[in-house]
Amino acid sequence: MSKAAMAIESVHGTWRNRWTFVLAATGSAVGLGNIWKFPYIAGENGGGAFVIFYLLCIALIGIPIMVAEVVLGRHGRHSPINTMRLLAQESELHPSWVIVGWMGALAGFLILTFYSVIAGWSLDYIFKMASGTFSHATSEQAGKEFTELLANPLKLTIWHTIFMVLAVVVIARGVNKGLSKAIRILMPMLFVLLFILFGFSLSTGAFGQAWDFLFAVDFSKLKLGGMLIALGHAFFTLSLGLGAIMAYGAYMPKSASIGRTVLIVAGLDTLVAILAGLIIFSLVFANGLEAAEGPGLMFVTLPLAFGNMVMGQFLGMLFFVLVTFAAWSSAISLLEPIVAWLVESLKIRRMFASILIGALAWFIGLGTVFSFNIWSDMTIWDKTVFDMLDFLTANIMLPLGGVLIAIFAGWKMNENIIKHELKLSRFSFKLWRALVRVVAPVGVVLIFINTMWPDFFPWLFELN
Ligand code: PHE
Repeated sequence: MSKAAMAIESVHGTWRNRWTFVLAATGSAVGLGNIWKFPYIAGENGGGAFVIFYLLCIALIGIPIMVAEVVLGRHGRHSPINTMRLLAQESELHPSWVIVGWMGALAGFLILTFYSVIAGWSLDYIFKMASGTFSHATSEQAGKEFTELLANPLKLTIWHTIFMVLAVVVIARGVNKGLSKAIRILMPMLFVLLFILFGFSLSTGAFGQAWDFLFAVDFSKLKLGGMLIALGHAFFTLSLGLGAIMAYGAYMPKSASIGRTVLIVAGLDTLVAILAGLIIFSLVFANGLEAAEGPGLMFVTLPLAFGNMVMGQFLGMLFFVLVTFAAWSSAISLLEPIVAWLVESLKIRRMFASILIGALAWFIGLGTVFSFNIWSDMTIWDKTVFDMLDFLTANIMLPLGGVLIAIFAGWKMNENIIKHELKLSRFSFKLWRALVRVVAPVGVVLIFINTMWPDFFPWLFELN
């Protein structure tokens, strides 16, 4: 009987305390997904019912899986790929469980390729805001600025390159140096600014409409495809299913309570998404814009608002600085699993591993850059390269990875080890186990079936 000896500490280091983990995991979770993606997909999918469905996915599927990822990471103390291998050995399971780690690393890599391009838009907007481009702009002008940016592949490539370099620099230095210091200041600033903007949105006169749009539930508006998008986004926004949280869990001190920590991270993530949604839709409705605007939503409505508010030039610039930082702290967590694996397994230097992966991701990212201009007509099933990557990762790979992690933690891994890591009360443990064993896998499978074969459940047929 071969039992892998589990390391007490990771070779990559340990967070100084539980709060550094909270900060880093929140930094990973809060990103473009919350501020850019959530409002626009809520807009495209009709609001209310979509949002409630999304919140259910967070509570019943996302949070239990996040707990599972942290448990696996903290017990395995390695990169997700090696953690899965070691844990499978320890519980005497089939070695093919390592595939979960591999698929996650690949998903993280693919997300990084387009994440960097979108974060590049945000970089561009820092300068646009600072130079007063949007002062007293009309909604047509704001729309035109954005369309022109997307039509310019060279500009997009330059910003994509700069963002990728930023992500690589931090990962090359190791997560503890620099980054945790930076986000300790920046994350609170992001919250303060969101609250200021929230105050502003209350004064637009359209706050009530925005609230109703996000929370008035009318299930006839929720299409089947919307359910899969809500589910996928629950994984994307909490950084689940690809090992990012597992990698960070590996650096978590033994004494920290996992359950409470995860609730804080998920709560903050949800708060940011809802605030961003309320702010953006107040502005959308106050300015007579379309809720279903698509990916340009944040880049058109917010500059418009800043351009017409006191100190807007400065606050607008600051806002995009913070969006960039939020994206930055997420991007590094996309790189960490695969870089940590290269360092552990091939014994190459962290610096070299980071540059190698960053360069590859940069190159594939050009496909996303061109999706918005020269390749915008090159579509398969009506999807550009960017749409494809987004769909494949968020809606397929992350839910699949997440469910495999749930099954591993819920059914396969030695229960005593989990109990020991989790230290939950009997009730909480049973609740968590029921969620990862049954609710998460069944929920994901049902939503998949529903989307792939829309007439599988005849009573739901009407919805489409
Ligand atoms: N959670 C991040 C966001 O919402 C994106 C992300 C996904 C980061 C997966 C890491 C892993 O923007």
